[in-house]
Amino acid sequence: EGQTALTEEDFGNAERMLKEDERWQEAMRKRGVTDFEHVMIDPWPAGYLTDEDAPTRRLNRPLTYVRYSDDENGYAHPVEGLLALLDLDRGEVLDVVDHGVIDIPEAAGDYTQAGMQAEGNVPHYAQPRTDLKPLEITQPEGPSFEVNGYEVRWQKWRFRVGFTAREGLVLHTVGYEDRGVLRSILYRASISEMVVPYGDPTPSHVRKSVFDAGEAGLGVNVNSLTLGCDCLGEIFYFDAVLGDLDGKAQVVKNAICMHEEDYGVLWKHTDFRTGKVEVRRSRRLVISTFMTLANYDYGLFWYLYQDGTIQCEVKLTGIMSMGAHHEGDDPQHGVKCAPGLYAPHHQHFFNARLDLAVDGHRNTIVEVDSVPGPLGPENPYGNAWRAVPTQLTRESEAQRDIDAKRARYWKICNENKVNHVGDPVSYKLLPGENVHHMFHEDAPALKRAGFIAHHLWVTQYARREQYAAGDFPYQSRGGAGLPEWVKQDRSLQDEDVVVWYTFGAHHVARPEDWPVMPVSYVGFHLKPSGFFDGNPALDVAPSEERACHTN
Ligand code: CU
Repeated sequence: EGQTALTEEDFGNAERMLKEDERWQEAMRKRGVTDFEHVMIDPWPAGYLTDEDAPTRRLNRPLTYVRYSDDENGYAHPVEGLLALLDLDRGEVLDVVDHGVIDIPEAAGDYTQAGMQAEGNVPHYAQPRTDLKPLEITQPEGPSFEVNGYEVRWQKWRFRVGFTAREGLVLHTVGYEDRGVLRSILYRASISEMVVPYGDPTPSHVRKSVFDAGEAGLGVNVNSLTLGCDCLGEIFYFDAVLGDLDGKAQVVKNAICMHEEDYGVLWKHTDFRTGKVEVRRSRRLVISTFMTLANYDYGLFWYLYQDGTIQCEVKLTGIMSMGAHHEGDDPQHGVKCAPGLYAPHHQHFFNARLDLAVDGHRNTIVEVDSVPGPLGPENPYGNAWRAVPTQLTRESEAQRDIDAKRARYWKICNENKVNHVGDPVSYKLLPGENVHHMFHEDAPALKRAGFIAHHLWVTQYARREQYAAGDFPYQSRGGAGLPEWVKQDRSLQDEDVVVWYTFGAHHVARPEDWPVMPVSYVGFHLKPSGFFDGNPALDVAPSEERACHTN
C-alpha cells in the first residue's frame, strides 16, 4: 500500500548516488557546474502520479541545487528541469531526465548577517539595524507553572506533554480545574498529518506534494533548542526521545519549550459615569516546538489562556522551494522573487487530530450556522438572524467545510452535563484563517491527500485510526485514512468522538518572503462555549499600577 517515511540515511544516500551518476554529471556540466562538492541533492518523495510510482519499489525523485560554499543558501540556485528517479533500497539511479537548460539563477540568497557580509552581498534593503534597545523579560519569582516529569500545572490548567517521531509534540489529558474539580477537555491532541501541494505543472514542481508527517516525520525533524533559543523569559525545556536508525534510543535535548507570555489585555471596562477602570492583563502558557523539513521550517505552538481558551498555531518560516525561469518569461504558476528565480504557488495543509473529552468521553458534535431570517411580520426590517444548530449524527454527515458567509463553527457538547442555564456543556472549534484546496477533483495527488477534501471530519474513536492520510502515505496511491474510515458511517451521538480539523495556509509568495520567510501564522481556537457558567477569568487579580505607570 505504501512505503516507509524518508530517513536521515536516505538523504545522504540520495546525494551520493546521484552525484556519482554520469548522466547527472553531464547535465550539470551543460549548466556550467563542474565542481560538485557543495552541490545539494534534496530527496523528494516520489508521490504517485502513474503506475511507474507503485510502491513495489522504494522510490525517490530528488532535486538539485547549487551551493557555491558550505554556508551559502543553495535554494537560491535551483537546477531547473533536471530530474532523477532513484530506487532507495537497491541504491540505484533508475533514470535521469534533462528537460533542457534553464540558466541557474545567480543572485545570492544569503540571510545571515555574517554570510551576507562575507560574500559582499548585503542587499540594498538589508543594511543592519542599530537602533533597537534591549527588551528584557524578568520573572523574579520564577514562572507560575509546576512541572512533575511530563505533567504540568499552570493556573487552573492540568495536562501532560508527549512526543512521537511522526507527530512531534502531543498534548495529553488537558483539563481545567473548576471550583476544585478537574474537568476534562482534550484527551489527546496532535498534528496527525500535513501535506504541501504545489500548483505548478512544470517538470520540477508537478510532483511536489509532500506529507511532512507520514513521508518525513515531524518529530524526527524537531529542532534541539540547545543551540539558540526561540523564546523569551523563564523557559522550561522538555527533552524528546526518539529511536535512531539502529534502533537505539536517542535523546533530543530541549525539543519542547514551555514559557509564560504576557498577552496584552484580558478584559477591560471603563465606567464612563464614575471614571473607574477595571482591567486585567492576559497571561498565556506557551508549549512549542520547531521542525525543519529541508528548506521549510514549521513551529507548532499550543497556547493555554486564563479564560479557558486553547489555541493551536502553526508558524511557517524558513526558505521557500524555488524554481528558475528563462529571463524575460513570466512564470504562470508562481511569483518572481529575484532575477530568474520564482516561488511556485503552493498551499500547506495541516490536520489536527483532536480526541476531545468535554467533561467526559461521550460527546456529540453540533454545527452552528448563523442564518439571516426572511422578511415578514417577525422580521419587518430584515435585521434578524439566528444561530442555527445542526447535529452531525453520523460520520457520513460529519465531513464539513468552513463557510465564512454563515460564520460557521462546530460545538463539541456533552449532553449528559448541563450548565447553569440548562444547556449541554460544550467547547467550540473556531476556524481561523483557512482555505480550500486547488486540485482538480480527478487529481491523483488529491486522492492521496483525501483529508484535505474537507476541513472538518469526525470519527468514532478507534485505536488504529491515528493518521489522517493513513499509516503509509509514502508512494501510496491514495484512499487511506479518513476517507476510508468514514465509510463505516459510525454513530457520533453521545460517543467517544475524534475531531479532525484540516487547516491550510495559502501561499502565493511575495518577494518579501525571500530569501527567508517572515513567519506567517495559521491555526484555530477551541473556546469554552457554555462549559463555564460565566467569564472564567473574572477571578484574575489586577496588575500592580507601577507596571504601567513608570516614567
Ligand atoms: Cu509556503
